[in-house]
Amino acid sequence: MSSFIIEGGKRLEGETFVSGSKNASLPIMAATILNEGISKLYNVPKIEDTKMMIEILKELGCKVKKDGSKVVIDSSNVHKFEISENLMRKMRSSVILAGSLIGKYKQATFSYPGGCDIGSRPIDLHLKGFKKLGIQVQENFGKIICTTDSIVGTEINLDFPSVGATENIILASVLAEGVTYIRNAAREPEIEDLQNFLNKMGANVEGAGTNVIKVEGVNKLKEVSYNIMPDRIEAGTLLCAVATTGGKVRLKNVEIEHIKPILDKLQEAGCNIENEKNIVNLTSPKRLKAIDITTMPYPGFPTDMQSIFGAMLCTASGTSIITENIFENRFKYAQELQRMGAKIKVNGKSIIIKGTRKLYSTKVKATDLRGGASMVIAGLMAKGTTEIEDIKYILRGYENVDEKLNGIGANIKILL
Ligand code: UD1
Repeated sequence: MSSFIIEGGKRLEGETFVSGSKNASLPIMAATILNEGISKLYNVPKIEDTKMMIEILKELGCKVKKDGSKVVIDSSNVHKFEISENLMRKMRSSVILAGSLIGKYKQATFSYPGGCDIGSRPIDLHLKGFKKLGIQVQENFGKIICTTDSIVGTEINLDFPSVGATENIILASVLAEGVTYIRNAAREPEIEDLQNFLNKMGANVEGAGTNVIKVEGVNKLKEVSYNIMPDRIEAGTLLCAVATTGGKVRLKNVEIEHIKPILDKLQEAGCNIENEKNIVNLTSPKRLKAIDITTMPYPGFPTDMQSIFGAMLCTASGTSIITENIFENRFKYAQELQRMGAKIKVNGKSIIIKGTRKLYSTKVKATDLRGGASMVIAGLMAKGTTEIEDIKYILRGYENVDEKLNGIGANIKILL
């Protein structure tokens, strides 16, 4: 069980950059199965989740070569259509492979992703969408077996704009007969990245980024090279890390449009922000101001950023309220922050944070990926040595976060 050891209380200043997006890479890597040929992906972040996706693709029969952030996937020999329970448990988002396997091979077997640290992760909307496409979905001893003779385009209205369900339905429809419309689709930028990748591979998808997506089935796809978009949550996390220390940063490789809701909140908290093309220059005040945040589907404030703002606001002046509307159990990190002296109260879907002047360093745990990132923010703020245990969660989603922060003045070491 490895830990981060953070010597906190240091002002961060300098220049750093954002890596490729985790949440865009995973569905795009899954989508390469549709191609039955070579896909060259660039800007894939070197994190545990993409490593795990490579393992799963290999198990299904893909040949995968990795060279830094370049990943070449040859999916011409996929011969297994089942994602084992063991792998599903290791990475819940592997459910995204179902859409590609069914779309290409008319069959996929997987198990329920089950609950996790941020609440239950149902897939009812994915399965409802599959059924509407004419796919038979059977459940057998916890396994979900999807089969079909043909997938026929149709209209699907999602009850909620789920990111994963939108992506899975797109993937299942790319090679379908006829046209599929997804209404009340999720509008997250990662879905647009998936659309751009698919279209470059020869698919015919339009509307991603709006709440109606149209997928016109095609017969054949072709080899493709694609550059994955920057990670908007990593961008937000690095900006908050700097803002929390009263620092200053020039952050490169940012898609500004994607992080507008994050930048607005940082400005409201007192930061000065100047944007250039793909670069954010942030200067933070000595002490941030309290703000209120409500998480919403894109283009609202992202749920993945709430724990990070939650930690940052612990030392802001005034009382902040954060309301979580997407996941049911995303405040576990609050307990850990309390152990560092934060004045946080969980009240149903909201947390109330009374800003204190400082946090105290101690031993804390990463409760999940974004909860773990919030501990890093708290550790940077607190004077003295903070130990964060269970950093495997953090490493799932952040590429070299210790090195990037150390490059702008932090002191973070990994204890193996
Ligand atoms: C994706 C992101 C995750 C982000 C989330 C919301 C990836 C790999 N992960 O997760 O980082 O926090 O979007 O922006 O891209 N729901 C159902 N039934 C379903 C599917 C979802 O009830 O069939 C509910 C979920 O329980 C949750 C909400 O819908 O409460 C949002 O989930 P969803 O948008 O599907 O998130 P993910 O795709 O799992």
